[in-house]
Amino acid sequence: MPGGRVQVIIEAMNYRHAYHAGNFGDCMKHAVLFWLLRALQRKPTPLFVLDTHAGAGCYDLASGPAARTGEWQNGIAMLLSDVPQPLADYVGLVRAIGLYPGSPAIARALLRPDDRMACCELHPEDTAVLRRHFAGDHQVAVHHRDAWEAVGALLPPKERRGLVLIDPPFEDPQEFGQLSQGLATGGRRFRTGVYAAWYPIKQRGPVRQFLADLQQSGMRDIVAAELCLREPIDPGRLNGCGVVVVNPPYRFEQEVPAILAALLDRLGDREPGEVAVVRRIVDE
Ligand SMILES: C[S@@+](CC[C@H](N)C(=O)[O-])C[C@H]1O[C@@H](n2cnc3c(N)ncnc32)[C@H](O)[C@@H]1O
Repeated sequence: MPGGRVQVIIEAMNYRHAYHAGNFGDCMKHAVLFWLLRALQRKPTPLFVLDTHAGAGCYDLASGPAARTGEWQNGIAMLLSDVPQPLADYVGLVRAIGLYPGSPAIARALLRPDDRMACCELHPEDTAVLRRHFAGDHQVAVHHRDAWEAVGALLPPKERRGLVLIDPPFEDPQEFGQLSQGLATGGRRFRTGVYAAWYPIKQRGPVRQFLADLQQSGMRDIVAAELCLREPIDPGRLNGCGVVVVNPPYRFEQEVPAILAALLDRLGDREPGEVAVVRRIVDE
């Protein structure tokens, strides 16, 4: 493994999702994930889900790291207290699961009996928690494995239909580059897969570069859903976030804007620069 790669992994291991679980970025990502899975399940044929950066699976928001930061108070708490109609099914699922669900728990709750999921996580403690969570579950495999290596190794799935969620910690600016490379690797291995990749919007520059890289990558059919709570001019703050979707299912561009608008309505503070948008990055 080259030295730079080791450094990125060591830095990433400082990241613990428990501190951020339930914040507005999490809600946006999970609401889009929920819509994507439901859309893919319009067809009865079995589906494979790969969650490349899975985290711990579920989080206790009332104690420990999540309670210390309180980020969820301006995220999932706002949605639970007053559920907007376009988010009703997603928020209903969060409520039904009880312990706040991360992406693997949300995806697992939606799997049908013939669907399968693989989760990769590199932090040893979070992997252990995730393994306990899914112990005895024959539809879910948990790998203590590097996400970028897994994108090459676990694709294409035997089902030939699938959703790949890529959700890096973004502790390091290099991760935009890794993300575009990871999407390209996945696209080469499993061209018809649907890919959803989350990214932070702190400043416009790195996001512009990332989307330009995707435009140059040769991949087709890419859209970006973005939610900004304010002008992205403070590099120290998560001012917004986005999910780039490759091969979006039918009606993504028609239906997801209402989900983003509902999120903005509940989570925004009416600051200058707030915006919810779905943009096409590369044509079909
Ligand atoms: C943003 S969190 C994931 C949150 C989760 N997807 C969710 O929505 O609930 C990113 C996770 O990726 C893990 N991670 C960091 N680098 C990784 C890598 N190279 N391969 C796999 N997991 C990694 C971190 O330990 C962290 O748990």
